[in-house]
Amino acid sequence: MHPVLLNDFKRQWAEIGSDVLRAVEKVGASGWYVLGQEVRRFEIALASHWGVREAIGVASGLDAIEIALRAAGLQPGDAVLTTPLSAFATTLAVLRVGGTPIFCDTDENGLLNLDLAEDVLRSDSRIRFLLPVHLFGQSLNLDRLGELQTRYGTTIIEDCAQSVGASWQGRATGTVGLLSATSFYPTKNLGAMGDGGAVLMNDANLAEKVRRLRDYGQSAKYLHDEIGWNSRLDEVHAAILSEAVLPRLTAWTSRRQQVATAYTNGITHPAIRLLRPASPSASCEHLFPVAVAAEHRADLEGWLKSQSIGTGRHYPILIPDQKAMTAANHEVRGELTVAHRLAQGEVSLPIHPQLTQDEVERVIAAVNAWSKGSQ
Ligand SMILES: Cc1ncc(COP(=O)(O)O)c(C=O)c1O
Repeated sequence: MHPVLLNDFKRQWAEIGSDVLRAVEKVGASGWYVLGQEVRRFEIALASHWGVREAIGVASGLDAIEIALRAAGLQPGDAVLTTPLSAFATTLAVLRVGGTPIFCDTDENGLLNLDLAEDVLRSDSRIRFLLPVHLFGQSLNLDRLGELQTRYGTTIIEDCAQSVGASWQGRATGTVGLLSATSFYPTKNLGAMGDGGAVLMNDANLAEKVRRLRDYGQSAKYLHDEIGWNSRLDEVHAAILSEAVLPRLTAWTSRRQQVATAYTNGITHPAIRLLRPASPSASCEHLFPVAVAAEHRADLEGWLKSQSIGTGRHYPILIPDQKAMTAANHEVRGELTVAHRLAQGEVSLPIHPQLTQDEVERVIAAVNAWSKGSQ
């Protein structure tokens, strides 16, 4: 039985390789490798694809969040309400710009519980920043986010690392907050062949600031107006994303959505709960998370492994429980009961555009044939 991989980069290369080589050749021949016309071209294409005025390429998704927080005016010591269930990078960005992360629980799908978030914002006017994550490719309720922004004067930075192409009632994630951040890490829906990210926004002044911050805080060559980063998207990566990846993104997202629909209709195991998005949300199906009782998770993973089916865990340890957090200022508001349960029981099934129909059916059959959880 050939393996069904969580991500299949060799198949992706077979599909995009010749376009990638053409992109690299073009940059090589141009003789210009950093902040040139490929980055600009990609930024314009990405902004238009996303439906925002400005997209600014940076070196990673982590940097994109950091720079967005700083551009939004975060000062050392400022509190930032965020989710305990995400890639560690979400919180790391807050810490690296001197912010204090504040955590509250998630909903049953693993996304920040916006009712609890509202309680926290209402009860503590010191918290002026909210950093929600559209986890798994599912959109949070964007209407609710907009209300929190106006009702409490909260500055929202959306973490869209997993949500390119996701929307809430037709509105794209990343269009509510003051700024948003995304990632081109290879596993992402819009993945590069290495690290990269972008900051998105509609405000031209903020865009100028982000452009300065990613380039040593320079306003012109050798003119440093503020303390910035070296966080520039490479010309080579920008060209690869423009030529080989972005033009395929819509079709790839549709394929992911087909796979998700097949799993949703096909998986009927009584002990497996699918973490499906709320109905007005069109997920970009970055991940396909399911949940089982904590005591059965290893068994399900082992069973699927025996069937040559890869799985992942997103995420097995809550951010405030990570060792690194013992040295970092942070606060937990209320119990993180739901998030803990998901951290202990979530399993991600393979979902990517190169999965064949046969493989999708193999995953469904294997999941349904799992014996343990139903006993
Ligand atoms: C939700 C989330 N935020 C932030 C990041 C950080 O992105 P990067 O790996 O490009 O730094 C990631 C990806 O790992 C992510 O999944």
